[in-house]
Amino acid sequence: MGAKPRSLSGIKPTGTPHLGNYLGMIKPAILMQETHETFYFIADYHALTSLRDSEQLKENAYDLTAIFAAIGMDFENHAFFRQSDIPEVTELTWILSCITPKGLMERSHAFKDALSKEQEVNMGLFSYPILMACDILIYDSNYVPVGQDQRQHLEITRDLAVRFNLLFGEAFVVPEAIIQKDVATIPGLDGRKMSKSYGNVVPLLAPEKQFRKAIMKITTDSKTVEDSKDPETCNVFALYKCFSTETEPVSYLESGRDKARAIARQVTDRVREKVGL
Ligand code: TRP
Repeated sequence: MGAKPRSLSGIKPTGTPHLGNYLGMIKPAILMQETHETFYFIADYHALTSLRDSEQLKENAYDLTAIFAAIGMDFENHAFFRQSDIPEVTELTWILSCITPKGLMERSHAFKDALSKEQEVNMGLFSYPILMACDILIYDSNYVPVGQDQRQHLEITRDLAVRFNLLFGEAFVVPEAIIQKDVATIPGLDGRKMSKSYGNVVPLLAPEKQFRKAIMKITTDSKTVEDSKDPETCNVFALYKCFSTETEPVSYLESGRDKARAIARQVTDRVREKVGL
């Protein structure tokens, strides 16, 4: 390891990048460039477990790269690459597969989730955590900034690193996840966690008008328009809070039909200003 600790993370090009991706991974990853040696990549092989349209895959990868560039990725001094450009990762995946207990994969949330929803479970999905472990371990990564949903994958990675080291001697650094506590669950348009699979995302690359329209769709409670919303439970405020530092005045949540547009505009402006796109 050089003088600086190494931070690594990947992002799957499966859909249009959204605010959840930004807060959970992109922003912390970009900030870590100041203090870490960073390795960030587009996880195109991981995307293949669910996406089979090569044009779409390419387009999503370009969108992500554009976002990293716009937000401040320093391509001169840090590594930014496509997962599939490094074939050693998939080679290591086979080797690590051979010491991975099947039971460990069966306990994976993503696998169990797909089973319970009777979705297709291909072997790529089943062994997804092994490829992810190899992504991390092959570069001797110390820290991995990820969203809350990736916590278990990081635990599996650590388990596999320890297991390999016990069997063959100290080969791998045992990495640590960096999970942003305050933005762990960014709400989507329906109040559930923002996720492509729920179809409730605010896309990062949406033009201003479309962005504002998405914000207008956020589900709120069934109080009458004259009543103030409760900032503790209001989804609009929860999103706004993810982009505010100090204690913000909540007066804008005092509703009224004619204010809804103004609120949407205010939230839109704030989020877009913070994201800087
Ligand atoms: N599984 C991650 C996600 O869905 C993407 C990913 C692949 C990743 N390999 C990684 C993240 C390695 C961090 C480190 O978001």
